[in-house]
Amino acid sequence: MRILRLSPPNPTTLLLRLPPRLTLTTAASILSMSPTTEPQNQPPTFPTVTITYDQLKDRKVDLSQKIEDGFGPNGLGILSISDVPGYSLLRKGLLRLAPRLAHLPDHVKNKLEDPDTRYNFGWSHGKEKLESGKPDTMKGSFYANPIIDIPTTNSSLIERYPSYCGKNIWPHEELPELEAAFKSLGKLILDVGMLLAFHCDRYVLKQKKVCQDEGLEMILLHSRCHKGRLLYYFPTQNSSDDHGLSMSSWCGWHTDHGSLTGLTCALFTRDTLETPCPDSSAGLYIRTRTGEIVKVVYGEDEIAYQIGETTEILSRGQLCATPHCVRVLTLPF
Ligand SMILES: [Fe+2]
Repeated sequence: MRILRLSPPNPTTLLLRLPPRLTLTTAASILSMSPTTEPQNQPPTFPTVTITYDQLKDRKVDLSQKIEDGFGPNGLGILSISDVPGYSLLRKGLLRLAPRLAHLPDHVKNKLEDPDTRYNFGWSHGKEKLESGKPDTMKGSFYANPIIDIPTTNSSLIERYPSYCGKNIWPHEELPELEAAFKSLGKLILDVGMLLAFHCDRYVLKQKKVCQDEGLEMILLHSRCHKGRLLYYFPTQNSSDDHGLSMSSWCGWHTDHGSLTGLTCALFTRDTLETPCPDSSAGLYIRTRTGEIVKVVYGEDEIAYQIGETTEILSRGQLCATPHCVRVLTLPF
């Protein structure tokens, strides 16, 4: 049993989940990258395959090998984009608002909740369940469509797909800067994702397995239901509870069900001051095609992208989704 003596850093992050559809299991394959050495029986750590923004935006550059290394049958289902103009400022601009949002008075946060969408728009806290079946009170989420405030007025669509066809709820009076910060970063992650999608489609087409109109780029272009999730992890007071002992303590093992997920690196704060992540074992873990669990890292100024199950299906398995989870801080502090 170890008690944290100081308030631990608590991270915030944004993920942008692009349109969902179906589910599928993945095929086994072999991991080919070299890990860094980790002491104390920690899983090995792998850096993501990285593509620079300049490479990505050039449609004449053939990035098929990078796409295959990151998203292909032997990859980890994740890669990152570096040197995206304007990204670092937009990331910090939004993530710094997460603690302020999470600590708004309860009566304000209650107004931001939307049970009709199963809490998939606006504020959500304690509504999801952990793998243990207990309510997840460790993190608070704010969900919004960063591109369109009201994606449809079709009542049958809203009734059938409330989690995606709902409308945004912004704290206009209590945190007015949230809307612009959320939309700016969300749009940038989508725009970069579209550039990435072009190269993904070209890689898949090389295998001659998919019709062009089923491509990832067209799906992202035509969707009206992109979803952003701003996550805030509340400070933990005790690392010895059942959350801290589990590999999947912050976010349980799952495979993304959408088309493409864009991820920021988390921002850690202690007593409102930003600090580096103090625990090298905390972060994103992936289960490889061979069943090995590895930790994955990418730079704080890089946008990471993960393939979802929808894309795996539509690409006939050429682009692969990967089970992953997020591990809590476990160090004594
Ligand atoms: Fe995920």
